[in-house]
Amino acid sequence: MDAILVRGGTELNGTIPIAGAKNACLTLMPATLLTDEPLTLTNAPRLSDIRTMTQLLQSLGAEVQSLQGGQVLALSSHDVTSQRAEYDIVRKMRASVLVLGPLLARFGRAEVSLPGGCAIGARPVDLHLRALEAMGAEMDLREGYIHARAPAGGLRGATVDFPFVSVGATENALMAATLARGTTVLRNAAREPEIVDLAQCLRRMGARISGEGSDTIEIEGVAALGGATHRVVLDRIELGTYMLAPAIAGGSVELAGGRIDLVAAFAEKLAATGVEIAETATGLRVSRGPERIRPVDVATAPFPGFPTDLQAQMMAHLATASGVSVLEERIFENRFMHAPELARMGARIEVQGGTARVQGVERLRGAPVMATDLRASVSLILAGLAAEGETLVKRVYHLDRGYERLEAKLGAVGARIERVSE
Ligand code: EPU
Repeated sequence: MDAILVRGGTELNGTIPIAGAKNACLTLMPATLLTDEPLTLTNAPRLSDIRTMTQLLQSLGAEVQSLQGGQVLALSSHDVTSQRAEYDIVRKMRASVLVLGPLLARFGRAEVSLPGGCAIGARPVDLHLRALEAMGAEMDLREGYIHARAPAGGLRGATVDFPFVSVGATENALMAATLARGTTVLRNAAREPEIVDLAQCLRRMGARISGEGSDTIEIEGVAALGGATHRVVLDRIELGTYMLAPAIAGGSVELAGGRIDLVAAFAEKLAATGVEIAETATGLRVSRGPERIRPVDVATAPFPGFPTDLQAQMMAHLATASGVSVLEERIFENRFMHAPELARMGARIEVQGGTARVQGVERLRGAPVMATDLRASVSLILAGLAAEGETLVKRVYHLDRGYERLEAKLGAVGARIERVSE
């Protein structure tokens, strides 16, 4: 199995290009199931999660062609032969559940394996099911699968009031509603840029949607959707992660394509630690001088709040602040697996329930570490960039799910980082 070896202590200078968003692409791909015409996605990231979604769609009979080295995905659901998403694929990636709404809306039925829990929490899908039930679907949970049926004549428009914000449930309901009869109103909908991107793509396909990006989305169902070409929005989590690289290691790095509106709450906290962030003609520039960074308190929240997907990386940054920072995780119940690993590198972190108290130390020291999810793993790489000595991050397959060419991107700005086999 591969591991990543980081030798800390070099400043970073140069430019890092930011890819298209994993989590946008993972909901745009299943949108192909809504139409028998071709859907082309450009600016797709080259990640193992995208390959898993490709396999899932192919297992349903959809065509997925990866062009231009994977940056363009040509999809067609002209000849869908199955409405069943098997456990073997769904268990690898929870986002597989995003085929449920589209299959149900276009074919009137779907069987999707229940995704189960994962390292960061139990992560049920009850809100997805309730939204589709409100549109008239019948749901039956048997033998580990969701068996969903639309009523005769198809899904009906409905008002769905989400009790709390869910990105995935909003996406499933939004896709399903495009082909439902009548008007659907999604209240307390997720406002994430990935939702906006999905709505824009669906509109290109002929859907009638308004209000995306606010907490109320209105969808007027249409009889059929057509083909479209859509550019995947920039990955704001990859952007935030690489903004933290010079913030932690020192130096000055431009994030090509970076947009402040996608990371405003995060950027505000990062700036409060004493790191300089400037908008440039082509992206964002992050610079850090030799002085020690200041502590800051952070609480995760749905967009436009501080993203849970940047909490681990921010903790790595705050591990060397000149005082105490308090991080509150409010989205997932078990998302501090990086804390004991950072502690192996000398960080002083106390976790109690959903709160971590980080007492900054002067310096971290390299160590062999590993983590059980994507964002936790990358936080250890970031910590390794400034640590004294060598950090060996194991279980690299987590990183390959969400960061394309991580070693190349960090290596190009001066990090001493390489993939090694153990
Ligand atoms: N939840 C329920 N019931 C549901 C749905 C969600 O209780 O039916 C709970 C979840 O367990 C969680 C909270 O609601 O505690 C929010 O979950 P949400 O549905 O918003 O998350 P998701 O759609 O499963 C997406 C991203 C995650 C990201 C979260 C939050 C994708 C493929 N995944 O997950 O990304 O952390 O939104 O922003 O879009 C990652 O990329 O590393 C990652 C985990």
